[in-house]
Amino acid sequence: MSTIGDVLVADAVVIGSGVSGLTTALSLEGRDVILLTKGPLASGSTRWAQGGIAAAVGEDDGPDLHAADTIGVGVGLNDPPAVAALTAGGAEAVATLIERGAAFDRDEAGNLVLGREAGHSVRRILHASGDATGAEVSRALTAAVGRSPIRVIEHAWVAEILVSAGRVAGVVAVVDGNPIHVAAPVVVLATGGIGHVYAKTTNPPEVTGDGIALARRAGADLTDLEFVQFHPTALDSGRDPMGLLTEALRGEGAVLIDDDGERFMLGEHPDAELAPRDVVARATWRLLRAGRRPMLDARDAVGGAFPERFPTVYGLCVEAGLDPRIEPVPVSPATHYHMGGILTDLDGRSTVPGLWAAGEVTRTGIHGANRLASNSLLEGLVFGGRVAASILATNPAPVPTETVAGPTIPEPQPDLEQALRDLMWAEVGVIRSADGLERALDEIDRIEEKAAQGASELRSMLTVSRLVAESALARTESRGGHFRADHPETDPGWAYSIVVPR
Ligand code: SIN
Repeated sequence: MSTIGDVLVADAVVIGSGVSGLTTALSLEGRDVILLTKGPLASGSTRWAQGGIAAAVGEDDGPDLHAADTIGVGVGLNDPPAVAALTAGGAEAVATLIERGAAFDRDEAGNLVLGREAGHSVRRILHASGDATGAEVSRALTAAVGRSPIRVIEHAWVAEILVSAGRVAGVVAVVDGNPIHVAAPVVVLATGGIGHVYAKTTNPPEVTGDGIALARRAGADLTDLEFVQFHPTALDSGRDPMGLLTEALRGEGAVLIDDDGERFMLGEHPDAELAPRDVVARATWRLLRAGRRPMLDARDAVGGAFPERFPTVYGLCVEAGLDPRIEPVPVSPATHYHMGGILTDLDGRSTVPGLWAAGEVTRTGIHGANRLASNSLLEGLVFGGRVAASILATNPAPVPTETVAGPTIPEPQPDLEQALRDLMWAEVGVIRSADGLERALDEIDRIEEKAAQGASELRSMLTVSRLVAESALARTESRGGHFRADHPETDPGWAYSIVVPR
């Protein structure tokens, strides 16, 4: 193992360039910030977000109503103060984003056009170019970073968070195969979710759960890891990652039909296609398991307006040889969002001094057992700002800058990665059982034995897979995104979160 010569020194290191990382870095005005991003700037899930940003900005809306809707789908595990912070901070966070350059769809009078999604009692989803909201958020925030003094290092994969005398002291990262050492008293994890740990996902391939694995090794508490959200309508075209068919389509009246042309959600839930996401995902999954073909039919709801109103979805369908204006398109559930993550307080502080976290990698208590659609971009905006404010209230402390060891980076093992992803999808996915989860844990052991030693994405994926499977096995009930075929009821005795201690 070699040592790393040069040391970069900063007041804070922000890891990740989605909405949470970019917002945090931009809000740390006056501090010397290094932003590390695994891919190019603005990689991660944000740029692929379609639906939009939920915020109580409409005349018929307010933070309390938005909070009630958020808690309504969270099935008893939301933390009400965290939800209140999110919804009360919505209007200001959106205003700041607009000041930073984001443009949202407006009507002819210049008013914001608000969309509807499942679980929202009023129209409150801001969107850009129809279904390209994430791309617009990324564009605006990366441009703002370009105008700022933030030092950006692209293609930097963080291998280790350094901890010295019980406090964060920086990170070791690998950039184009070369190790770098960044010494800093503050590290913010904004690395996103865990989608790529599963064979079917709407997340980009870089989303491998690194943040959770790093936090775990640094000694942070983790919570609610069993709660994974499966989006019910990914385009089932064989593509990996899968294309997302935004819930806004169902908000506009698109229906789910089986291969006999029957609407299968009518018998499942009073809200039919706008039932909570987990209910729709399970119905779609069961149909697929029965050898049937679930499809999304937006011919009447959108029809000829597709290219203009849903250009991203339209493009994904055309790429797959499908025309959603004139035909229903095949769908499957896919891993979309992780409600669990690093346990943080209302300012994004983890249980390790100096380690903050923002966005999907956290468990702030906003989402509970199920996330309300379009609350995640808002979370990045509001909590990115809160994390920065809480860091600005601390004094940058000196940190050790002596030489540290470079990490051992093994060759990628794509076959093992794929085996793990298939396993997670089959046994730790939409419908789980004790037998399947125990089988998954045995198989994770076997894959781990074959995995090369050192720091790698595969190692992150193994850590996350094991923790999610163990948490899912421990929770002997069904709640929100976690469904156990052997315990299908919600048990009031389980109305608490599982904390995975350090
Ligand atoms: C969607 O557009 O359906 C996804 C929105 C979200 O996951 O918040």
